Amino acid sequence: MDRPRCLVAMVLICLLSICHGRGLRVGHKNNGHVYNHTLAKILVEYASAVYMSDLTALFTWTCSRCTDLTEGFEVVELIVDVENCLQAYVGVAHDLNAVIVAFRGTQEHSIRNWIQDLFWKQLDLNYPDMPDAMVHHGFYSAYHNTTLRPGIVSAVQEARELYGDIPVMVTGHSMGGAMASFCALDLTVNYGIHNVQLMTFGQPRVGNAAFVSYFSKHVQNAVRVTNEHDIVPHLPPYYSYFPQKTYHHFPREVWVHNVGIGSLVYMIEKVCDGSGEDPSCSRSVSGNSVSDHLAYFGIEMQADTWGTCRIVFHGNMVQYQVDLAGNIVLSKRPGVSSVLQQSVEADKSRNAI
Ligand SMILES: *[C@@H]1O[C@H](CO)[C@@H](O)[C@H](O)[C@H]1NC(C)=O
Ligand SMILES: *[C@@H]1O[C@H](CO)[C@@H](O)[C@H](O)[C@H]1NC(C)=O
Repeated sequence: MDRPRCLVAMVLICLLSICHGRGLRVGHKNNGHVYNHTLAKILVEYASAVYMSDLTALFTWTCSRCTDLTEGFEVVELIVDVENCLQAYVGVAHDLNAVIVAFRGTQEHSIRNWIQDLFWKQLDLNYPDMPDAMVHHGFYSAYHNTTLRPGIVSAVQEARELYGDIPVMVTGHSMGGAMASFCALDLTVNYGIHNVQLMTFGQPRVGNAAFVSYFSKHVQNAVRVTNEHDIVPHLPPYYSYFPQKTYHHFPREVWVHNVGIGSLVYMIEKVCDGSGEDPSCSRSVSGNSVSDHLAYFGIEMQADTWGTCRIVFHGNMVQYQVDLAGNIVLSKRPGVSSVLQQSVEADKSRNAI
């Protein structure tokens, strides 16, 4: 090796060891899984598309956000819980060779009001069969106690019967990330799916420290992407002086933020520590931005129409079912009516109580 090249190599090695000395060992390993930037850029597009209100365009994957890195996606089922204003889909990404499950964030009248409410959310539900684990009842039941769960679980099972034991990637933004977390845990623990991956964007906290240790034991491949000063990951608040009573994030946070000045600005994706509450990640800044919540990796993360739970739907173009409560399931599966039958019966028994 001649001298200049040798020097360059030495400088490079030096730089690498300085930069990665601590980061690589502590930061990039996620129970053996590595944070994958390419995958994050793909999943953020799936989490953005689920906000679209034209159900027909979403179901046929022809919506304006159904392009770019998600092209060729095959929707298996699209579920709209009209009663609770929730939306999710299940499908197969053939290029990733994975099942994708995506949850929409809140559609409430004002995102600001929804965020304000998060300041006061209590840990108000014991997570079933898990002593001391407490979670936020509203987030929990948005997944567990609505039309979403039965539709998603059977669509995931159907996709895996068709395509084999392929990974299930669960994603969502904001409240959709909270629901995605409960879904990933549910698929792992209650349905025995061993290769569930979770990646959420700007999600709030969902449970306490006891819940987090249970969660992390089961959902080992979990990434929570946070962006700059996004306020939502700071909520409901974390009180370090009440360790038993406070909400606590699960690992692994990846904090995306820009550094530099003037024209020399570049994006950093910091892979945070295994605690879930790394003080050197998004917690090192004040969460004071709503606009940082509404765009991740430059992708718009909000509804195309705000305000109401508006949906656009050309029912004659696709196969669909509507239950007694007016909830809609668009499905490519022949057996979809049986799922709806279950949820209709669940509704009846609720009314009886
Ligand atoms: C990251 O994800 C992409 C898309 O799934 C995949 O093609 C690539 O191999 C992954 N990279 C690593 C290092 O796992
Ligand atoms: C499920 O929803 C019904 C009605 O919406 C409610 O009465 C019931 O308490 C809920 N159950 C749980 C565990 O949240």
